[in-house]
Amino acid sequence: MEKKLQSIDLQKVPNHIAVIMDGNGRWAKGKGMQRVFGHRNALTAIRETADAASDLGVKFLTLYAFSTENWNRPKLEVDALMSLLVTTLKKELPDFQRKNVRVNAVGNITSLPKSAQKILAKVIEETKNNTKITLSFALSYGSREEIVNAIKNISKKVVNNQLDIEKIDEKIINNHLYTFNLPDVDFMIRTSGEQRISNFLLWQMAYAELYFTDILWPDFRREHLFEAIIDYQNRERRFGKTSEQIETNE
Ligand code: FPP
Repeated sequence: MEKKLQSIDLQKVPNHIAVIMDGNGRWAKGKGMQRVFGHRNALTAIRETADAASDLGVKFLTLYAFSTENWNRPKLEVDALMSLLVTTLKKELPDFQRKNVRVNAVGNITSLPKSAQKILAKVIEETKNNTKITLSFALSYGSREEIVNAIKNISKKVVNNQLDIEKIDEKIINNHLYTFNLPDVDFMIRTSGEQRISNFLLWQMAYAELYFTDILWPDFRREHLFEAIIDYQNRERRFGKTSEQIETNE
């Protein structure tokens, strides 16, 4: 693992990493257990990934914890996920403070149970001045829903003469997304072998590098993050330019 860590160029770590934490159910099933067992064991992977990212100097880590589509899962599983969220946030708050982690949430937060909204608000407020890393949980999040919501809010401003239609640009749209306080995603990791984006940060990932690994999320550890970042650093991000332009910094 040390060897992997040494091959990382600390000057070029992605600023914002987004993760689709997939495979909890399959991991549990493989062990003859209920799906919820997989979600509980996902917490170690979250802790390790957040710590490792923070140590490397990653400034933003966004985790897809619950999608708008996940509401369609059996009630028992939805309830278990919500209760896991509440207990975890309560339990981890002192560690977020000690580790200087700013917690953030993106998604249709008002659709979460009141208990989850309450603890989220508390953790976000109490960690708002922390500066080492911003850890965002995507909760009841769907990218298309986010864009619809942004369009509605922008339209209201136009109708109320608070905004001129000609002034609508990418920045205005950015400012109306749930991620208004986050930069674009540089690197997206999805575990469990699925190669999809699944309605996650579509606008924000316009230029992101995508990385897929067969590891199931509960097995994801520091060294897997290191491996992923080494892969990222071996790619050339051109943002539509030519290789020559990138070399000469044009
Ligand atoms: C995907 O695995 C995982 C989820 C839908 C939920 C992710 C949630 C957590 C890791 C815990 C949430 C808690 C906190 C504190 C954020 P899957 O169930 O779709 O797995 P499968 O594809 O193998 O069925």
